[in-house]
Amino acid sequence: MFESIAPAPADAILGLTAAFQKDPSPTKVNLGVGVYKDAAGTTPILASVKTAEGRILESAKTKSYMPIGGDPAYGKLVQDMILGEGHEAITAGRVRTAHTPGGTGALRVGADFLKKFFPNATVWISKPTWANHRGIFQAAGFKVEEYPYYDPKTKGLDFPAMRTALGQIKAGDIVLLHVCCHNPTGVDLDQAQWKEVAALGGRQGWIPFLDFAYQGLGDSVEADRQGLLAMAATCPEMLVSSSFSKNFGLYQDRTGALSLFARDAKQAEACFSNLEIVVRVNYSNPAAHGGLIVTTILSDPALKAQWRGELDAMRNRIASVRAELVRALQQSGIAQDFSFIERQKGMFSFSGLSDAQVQFLREKKAVYVVGGGRINVAGITPKNIGYLCASIREALG
Ligand code: LMR
Repeated sequence: MFESIAPAPADAILGLTAAFQKDPSPTKVNLGVGVYKDAAGTTPILASVKTAEGRILESAKTKSYMPIGGDPAYGKLVQDMILGEGHEAITAGRVRTAHTPGGTGALRVGADFLKKFFPNATVWISKPTWANHRGIFQAAGFKVEEYPYYDPKTKGLDFPAMRTALGQIKAGDIVLLHVCCHNPTGVDLDQAQWKEVAALGGRQGWIPFLDFAYQGLGDSVEADRQGLLAMAATCPEMLVSSSFSKNFGLYQDRTGALSLFARDAKQAEACFSNLEIVVRVNYSNPAAHGGLIVTTILSDPALKAQWRGELDAMRNRIASVRAELVRALQQSGIAQDFSFIERQKGMFSFSGLSDAQVQFLREKKAVYVVGGGRINVAGITPKNIGYLCASIREALG
């Protein structure tokens, strides 16, 4: 029976955290998992979140079950956040939102829903993409293929190749796109490129699945949604996964959402009832706490303003660390040009380090970087940047 089961490999990202925690090195640096850290290297609970939690604790009267799709008030606030208040899809009632366990849960609920109705579809993911995307869609039973995205030569987007590939994907296939802060590269589409992709989506008839895990960590809550708005304008049917792990710091509260867009309110209602079945047979209904925090913050103007300030501070720190890293790498005597790090958006930077260099950094320097060379810029602090740059210099040889 079970004795024939071989151990599974460690997770490409969360497995690094486990290895990092066991590492006895006093100078170890964790640039693996995408968790925000402040300049002191800690991941504090946001003050707005603390206040919201206090209020929730005070006013809570029951621990009874949540609705299968979560609290409708939460769903509405999520829609306002991803689309902007008053968007036509909201007023027409043709977008419906389920509260899910994080962005990963949203992706899996969406994948299971799509598999039920489009069993023969292929799911197209960017090359490269977040390590878990392929796993989630394969676990739902889909065939997964890649479309070109990143050009290692320019350290930027290979838009011509991407456009050509997306223009050949057939109706009914599913195309996964990162709305902002592409994970792992930090390379995003500009507004003109989004318009082209949106036009292709409308023309080809594929189903966009937009992963929106980093809203507010690119340029701002509003600017980061521009790609989504472009897609919504041409593709009436699509799915959007949201995560509040990073922008609210609710990592361990597993707080996310899946928004389903249909052509009209009646179709949205029919689809949502099927989403509810997917949820019911997976985890029945969502854990309330994280959703209550988001609802409390977004429905109170003062608390919302405070949260916005805290989000701005996180984003600004990441931007300044990018600049600092480029400067420190230069000063450590590395000839290679790393200025592209400042052009990338969000928490991650695709450093250009090879797998052998990543392995050297981990084994010889206790510097933890995700395979493929993704570094979490937010993990860099004034205390570890010198050691980090010296280690990278050694790795580059
Ligand atoms: C990451 O990419 O590091 C985060 O999204 C965390 C995760 O679940 O992998």
